[in-house]
Amino acid sequence: MTSGQIAVHWKEEGYIAPPARFIGQANAADPDIFQRFAEERFPECFKEYADLLDWDAYWHTTLDTSDPPFWKWFVGGRLNACHNCVDRHLATQRNKAALIWVPEPESEATLAITYQELHKRVNEFAALLRDFCELKAGDRVTFHLPMVPELPVSMLACARLGVIHSEVFGGFSGTACGDRIADSGSRVLVTMDGYFRNGELADHKVKADEAVDAAAKLGADVDKVLVWRRRPGAYASQSPMVDGRDFFVDDLLQTYRGKQVEPVSMPADAPLFLMYTSGTTARPKGCQHSTGGYLAYVTGTSKYYQDIHPDDTYWCMADIGWITGHSYIVYGPLALGTTSVIYEGVPTYPDPGRPWRIAERLGVNIFHTAPTAIRLLRKLGPDEPRKYGYRFKHMTTVGEPIEPDVWRWYHDVVGKGEAVVVDTWWQTETGGFLGSTLPALQPMKPGSCGPGVLGVYPVIYDEDRNVVEAGSGNAGNICIRNPWPGIFQTIWGQPERFVDLYYRKYCADPDSKDWHDWPYLAGDGAMLADDGYFRILGRVDDVINVAGHRLGTKELESAAITVEEVAEAAAVPVLDELRGRAVEMYISLKPGITGGDDIRGKVIAAIETQIGKIARPQNVWIVSDMPKTRSGKIMRRVIASISNFADVGDTTTLSNPEIVDDIRHQVQSEKLARGEAPRPLTPEEEAEIKAFGRTE
Ligand code: WTA
Repeated sequence: MTSGQIAVHWKEEGYIAPPARFIGQANAADPDIFQRFAEERFPECFKEYADLLDWDAYWHTTLDTSDPPFWKWFVGGRLNACHNCVDRHLATQRNKAALIWVPEPESEATLAITYQELHKRVNEFAALLRDFCELKAGDRVTFHLPMVPELPVSMLACARLGVIHSEVFGGFSGTACGDRIADSGSRVLVTMDGYFRNGELADHKVKADEAVDAAAKLGADVDKVLVWRRRPGAYASQSPMVDGRDFFVDDLLQTYRGKQVEPVSMPADAPLFLMYTSGTTARPKGCQHSTGGYLAYVTGTSKYYQDIHPDDTYWCMADIGWITGHSYIVYGPLALGTTSVIYEGVPTYPDPGRPWRIAERLGVNIFHTAPTAIRLLRKLGPDEPRKYGYRFKHMTTVGEPIEPDVWRWYHDVVGKGEAVVVDTWWQTETGGFLGSTLPALQPMKPGSCGPGVLGVYPVIYDEDRNVVEAGSGNAGNICIRNPWPGIFQTIWGQPERFVDLYYRKYCADPDSKDWHDWPYLAGDGAMLADDGYFRILGRVDDVINVAGHRLGTKELESAAITVEEVAEAAAVPVLDELRGRAVEMYISLKPGITGGDDIRGKVIAAIETQIGKIARPQNVWIVSDMPKTRSGKIMRRVIASISNFADVGDTTTLSNPEIVDDIRHQVQSEKLARGEAPRPLTPEEEAEIKAFGRTE
């Protein structure tokens, strides 16, 4: 974001106070908590989060900064994440539902899994992983699982053994899964035969075959593919089982019935899992999260920011294949011993009243989703929530900026004006929340996430490391000044990239051992109002946030250029009413090649196979050439401006400025003809588009 230059004139929204009913029961209702987490208490303040867990050995050092920026939390401590999420609740609440699974078909019964049963299932699967797959602490296992209870069971079984799990979002393609298998060095893939999505039983096992092939091409051999069956005994996939490689989990489990596995006591800084995310290059980044710091952080923030009590029924509609699901469906809520709801399908199936029926039937009182889902549910069923008798005390929005009018519908109609709303800003890398209001103690302000969360101190810097002052009306790069327990430990196998991408830019002194010199660069543009509330504007790197999914432009582009006819490709974001942003691809063809829809189709197919359907571009424009700098770099900001009908800015430094008008004419006249011209951009959106591709 080009800071210091954007005078923003968005309307400052008024405050909305949390309802008295909420405050009366909130976990954090005493303002004394701000003292406990005051900056002068850092890092010891986070003892309060760690003390929510059971430790096998207590730690001696809260924060070790001897090897910046590889921070170590709760050093000397030992614990097991599975014990903390399952075993320790057995004494007092073995018969309470830990998970309630709602299958997509409404005719299929809801499944409640008690803590007792979860314990059994996790132990049996852990025994299988240990004895049949010969996995041990520190090994990696890749999952490609949909929204079924077998996913948290698999995660917790790994955690029990100290095995590092790496779940790849079920909607990603087999090839994308294979890349991640190879990167993490997993020998075992855990998948499922099929699952319901939008009324169809999707064949998922077929992706496992593609994944194994893709991994093999990268030199990584998968020995075993474990296939959970959506309906044990009835195989739902067309893909043949490969002898000696593929095994039905329900068959194998016969041998492990009733087996107990001692939780392995892990050092606090042992990795718990990897979560891959997109960035500036085509190679995805495996964000490595720790056991002690991560679990303490998600448990503490679940308690104070999600306001989870053990007797709540909590429903986060995100996919467990993303960080939100790991932190705020599985680890945080289960560590607090609550009931966490998992829904298999899409929120609008079979109609946009579905989420509210689920909420009513299960008595959900805490609800958590993303702006994309809220926009869609509002568009398709603006009055649906009124028809159902649920009562939420608390609601979360996460993953993208939320427009104030969308926020208001969420608060007034979904929350019936009775629920407090938190807009939580954070990232795959950060493990848990970074910016949010503390729900009983800080008023809501639509469109702003709020201040930094307890113990997290954000700052906005301009390009020259000057602090962008509160209330200045200027945007800049939001950073976190201090480490916190949930921060990822490194990028799996790429420690230099970890330092370069997240710390290099604002590091005051690379030799310093003082954490004050190592602010964390989040990669988002943001503004800070006088009241200390942050407004997140969006990514400043080459990431496009489509419906809350991070897509790397380089990943999209490398998929497009695998099409033989394509010479060059560039991916840019366009404003989208429902998904926030959508992707448009620009391609130029090799000399002598002509073509239209056939090539466009191939590009779309390549992106869908190599990344997944979520990355499907809205348009593929075939242009005669790309606007380029004299050194030959594609100027993505110029084509992004064209796609969004924004001012292209200065093009005099281009080597081929004449191309800009041609492309503009070609793209915009077609968009106008199709009625696809976007509404005029706000100043913040314009700034985002103009900064696009700046990190190259
Ligand atoms: C964006 C999701 C505005 C942001 C937890 C961030 C948000 C990226 C918000 C991380 C929010 C997340 N308001 N923008 N409340 N929450 N973002 O890694 O650009 O999938 O950098 O983690 O989503 O996406 P990720």
